[in-house]
Amino acid sequence: MPTVLGLDSSTQSVSAVVLDTDSGSIIHEEAVSFGSDLPDYGQPSGFIPGGEGGEVHSDPLMWLDALELLFERLAARDTVDLGVIAAIAGSGQQHGSVYLDEGFEETVRNLDGSRTLKSQVLSHLTRQTAPIWMDTSTSEECAEIAQALGGNAEVCSRSGSIAIERFTGPQIRRFAKMSLDGWELTGVIHLVSSFMASMLAGRSVAIDHGDAAGMNLLNLSTGDWDETLLAATAPGLREKLPATRASSTIAGQVSPFFIERYGLNPDCEVVLFSGDNPSSLVGMGASRPGKVVISLGTSDTLFAAMPEPRTDPNGYGHVFGNPMGGFMSLICFLNGSLARERVKEDLGLEWADFDREGLAKTPVGNEGRLMLPFYGPEITPRVESSGAVSVGLDSAEPAAVVRAVLEGQFLNMKVHARWLGVDPETIYLTGGASRNDGIAQTVASVFGVPVSRLAVSGSAALGAAMRAAEASCGIPLDELENSFCQPETGSTVHPEEGAGQIYEDLEQKWVSALHETFQLPND
Ligand code: XUL
Repeated sequence: MPTVLGLDSSTQSVSAVVLDTDSGSIIHEEAVSFGSDLPDYGQPSGFIPGGEGGEVHSDPLMWLDALELLFERLAARDTVDLGVIAAIAGSGQQHGSVYLDEGFEETVRNLDGSRTLKSQVLSHLTRQTAPIWMDTSTSEECAEIAQALGGNAEVCSRSGSIAIERFTGPQIRRFAKMSLDGWELTGVIHLVSSFMASMLAGRSVAIDHGDAAGMNLLNLSTGDWDETLLAATAPGLREKLPATRASSTIAGQVSPFFIERYGLNPDCEVVLFSGDNPSSLVGMGASRPGKVVISLGTSDTLFAAMPEPRTDPNGYGHVFGNPMGGFMSLICFLNGSLARERVKEDLGLEWADFDREGLAKTPVGNEGRLMLPFYGPEITPRVESSGAVSVGLDSAEPAAVVRAVLEGQFLNMKVHARWLGVDPETIYLTGGASRNDGIAQTVASVFGVPVSRLAVSGSAALGAAMRAAEASCGIPLDELENSFCQPETGSTVHPEEGAGQIYEDLEQKWVSALHETFQLPND
């Protein structure tokens, strides 16, 4: 029965998971970290340090070296037989772009197994480095694109997001403006996902709908590039973009390069790669509407499959393609663990105290005391804040402050996820802070639904492997979710008794405080 491989090309590493779909088990996980495994590139966090004016770029050749090292390591493992892998899919950090000349297609179709990928691709780069999702250098280009479309509302209704600095369209515009020669020489622009997939498939492959929607270039209702957005972005752009296709599209059989060098099977199929968030949606078992995923990290994110392609009237959230069909939303909250850490540090607490000293000693709803927990600038909602704002809170009462920051964060999520039109049955909580039972309990009570935690570490690579199994081997999604996406035993928490009414009242008070403090447009 099929063994499949899922890859994830992320900001800091390229990783792999090998699944045995017959026994429903993970055979092996492997990762190559740019910082520790490829120190000569001098990019310890996966990007070139010292970028100016908001520029954050990475080196696509480093990603290729990492891909080869990853396959070398997989090939050397006793537990992994690369010769039986039936299908491969992958995921990539979203929005990043790679600029290549017309000769790239010919080269990638004829990769020479006696040379490294890097040495063969190097001369085809028309831009030596790739802007990635952390880049914020394109405010001017975003304004120009929005103006050309008659306003951001139009950009959003077509592409699923207002013009966003890190999105690929504004990044492409900046390159076309800055480097006329480089632009002229560029024959094809790939996303991180389609660039890596092109290597595996040995041809310049399409961009899948999931990741294409993070470019401010895809028209969500047609599923094709939007002529007006293309024209507003850069001249002659359509000719330089790969086609866009459903995520389940089989790109072809694996390139002879990987057969010769690492012993892959000539019949192994490569399924289009997608973005890391769309892939995580699949890996978390949430690609059908009903489950909402909240990931608690440096920034917090909330994502969910959507029954229909609505867009956020405030322009804070994004709509991407759901790799299993339809759409998904992604909402980022910058003040995630940043705000939680701040409270922890200010009050001299440990994480465990969040339960013991904070939540256990205060009632649900905090007797109406509340916090707008924006310690730094926030994008959802968009506020320039330089400190949290409290109402009725006495900073000498650490327990109340702990509860206020958490209730404030989750009320903010709830209020700003309402446009999705999704009534979650369950919330899947992931990321570092999800381990804390008190935090999980607060999420359950604020949202009024059970919260489960999944034992998934790399959900993007796992989701990619599941996509490979579904699209290439025809294994039903239900079966895959049953095997790989089960909540940890005993990890589910339910809303507290009576919390519903209390949070309804607190939400009203919280939203009024938000508007009074920040004069938001029309939340
Ligand atoms: C999403 C985004 C990030 C990257 C991280 O819009 O920019 O989540 O995908 O890899």
